[in-house]
Amino acid sequence: MADPAADARNGATAGEEARDRSAVRGPLALERGERAGERIRTVVVDDHDDVARLVAHRIAALIRGHDAAGRPTVLGLATGSTPLGVYRELVRLHREEALSFANVTAFNLDEYYPMAADSIHAYHRFMWEHLFSHVDIAAERVHVPDGSVPEDGVEAMAAAYERAIVDAGGIDFQILGIGMTGHIGFNEPGSGADSRTRMVILDRVTRRAAAADFFGEDNVPRRAVTMGIATILAAREIALLATGEHKAAIVRRAVEGPVDLEVAATFLQRHPNATVYADRAAASALTRVATPWLVEPVQWTPALTVRAVVWLSRRVSRAILKLTQQDYAEHGLSSLVALHGSPGAVNGLVFNALGAKIRGRSKLPAGQRVICFSPHPDDDVISMGGMLGKLVENRNAIVVAYMTSGNIAVFDHDVRRYVDFLERLAREGMVDPAHIAPLAGKVYRFLDTKRPGDVDIPEVQEIKRLIREAEAVAGIETLGLPPSAARFLRLPFYQTGMVRKNPIGPEDVAIVRALLEEWSPGYIFVAGDLSDPHGTHRMAKEAIDAALAELRAAGRPVPEVWLYRGAWQEWPVDEATWLVPLSQEELRRKIQAIFKHQSQKDSAPFPGPTDDREFWQRVEARNTGTADELNRLGLAEYFAMEAYVVAQA
Ligand code: F6R
Repeated sequence: MADPAADARNGATAGEEARDRSAVRGPLALERGERAGERIRTVVVDDHDDVARLVAHRIAALIRGHDAAGRPTVLGLATGSTPLGVYRELVRLHREEALSFANVTAFNLDEYYPMAADSIHAYHRFMWEHLFSHVDIAAERVHVPDGSVPEDGVEAMAAAYERAIVDAGGIDFQILGIGMTGHIGFNEPGSGADSRTRMVILDRVTRRAAAADFFGEDNVPRRAVTMGIATILAAREIALLATGEHKAAIVRRAVEGPVDLEVAATFLQRHPNATVYADRAAASALTRVATPWLVEPVQWTPALTVRAVVWLSRRVSRAILKLTQQDYAEHGLSSLVALHGSPGAVNGLVFNALGAKIRGRSKLPAGQRVICFSPHPDDDVISMGGMLGKLVENRNAIVVAYMTSGNIAVFDHDVRRYVDFLERLAREGMVDPAHIAPLAGKVYRFLDTKRPGDVDIPEVQEIKRLIREAEAVAGIETLGLPPSAARFLRLPFYQTGMVRKNPIGPEDVAIVRALLEEWSPGYIFVAGDLSDPHGTHRMAKEAIDAALAELRAAGRPVPEVWLYRGAWQEWPVDEATWLVPLSQEELRRKIQAIFKHQSQKDSAPFPGPTDDREFWQRVEARNTGTADELNRLGLAEYFAMEAYVVAQA
């Protein structure tokens, strides 16, 4: 629970945090959490930005309170994708609201080993790039475990690190992310409650999650130096941040499960002043969010009714129309039956509601103007290949807008293969060798000396882009679209040549808006996943949302927005607005279109941490899985289905 006394002790304005929180979440949220069996105080907010703002403002209040009391502030900091927004907000507070870091001392949680401080992979460099260089913190007050000391010096370095924390007065506020293994810092499963700063061996799941940053799992260091669990628990206040649906299961485990050596984050349950700050996606598996009727009386909206009955049907493994009074009573759902008069009435209502979601071709847009926004060149066919085929049949005027080039996801060996092909054409006299030889020479020279993670030279970036563009065109042609339907937007936010992207800016929004104005679509399709590993889908959606908001503000017509998923997860049937059946042939054609993305086949450079399957295999399983789910619920038996959510304006 909130500890106002602790807030006051730390000099925070508790009122400010409460105001921030209640702006995004009802005041009863925390009590509800306790009733739901949450063992760590948990604050659930709407999105990534809300988490960032809340935590940054908490830190700012702490620093200002300490400054006023004439004492320094010691921060424990984390790296990774989750705290980036916090650092962005802290930099903004420094620039615009005079927040000073002159009296702040910082200790980072961890560093890869071995690792030179200036490597593009170093957490040391990450912290300077994202925070320290932009604020007035003194360099000598910044501490990151040193990944460059010789192996026999690690123990002494770690002991000195612990001493430095104590000498600084201990950590006032510790930021944590959470890994897919439940690690905090790099305390992998098996790390004990009394562990201190030390060298550790990284878990395979952690290395796979980091593979994208290192351009391949093999390049990810096998070891790291991390603060221990005991070091972390000694902090006076701890904030664990979690965003994205891919964190949902581990957040639930950390917050609701028992303390367990196998899940380091569960040790936070023993800390008197630890808080989990989660966005809606990361909190989605918590009992109070997933099944609120088990926690407290709920207002039965139509959507919640469908969710509860689908859950009950799964739970008791019985089709919806066969659910009994006893099933409802034994699972905390008597109030639903009472509201509708009988189990049969609720069953019928939900059965019909699900049935009404099914939309075959005749109920899909026809003769309309449509844009499919695809964050990368392949999300279109992976996520809505079946829909695209049907939209073509329905004679819609379709543009597929590829928002980024996706060029960082092309292997170097593919570039070599295409350049070799060009050289062969030149040797056969089919293209002018004078054009090919200098390019080939430059590309080979670069690739021969390239180290893992080096940013590609412009020529290589462009070749990779063109490889993906050609694949994208082949993909949509498989579904009956002409090459001219493809537009390549090349949004600037992506053009860093690195895995990490820039924030969405006005130029990105302007490009999206220009296309919307040019095409005036009645419908647009947008990636709605909340868990793609690099956040590119989330950022692509941010650019589209901003462009739509501008149109709305200018009184211009805005299209209906259909959100698709598929690359990383699928919409559950209860959440979907529309379920679109696919025949065996349609699914086969969709998979053929996915095959056209050859640079992503066999072994995708960025497969995500926990799923070994290729994208086409995930698609096949998800689309047939959705159909099977409907069948299990007792509706009609389809071969496969895609799911869509119509976004609320
Ligand atoms: C980083 C760290 C790790 C990360 C965790 C989550 O300093 O100690 O525990 O916080 O792996 O990483 P992201 O935020 O990238 O999902």
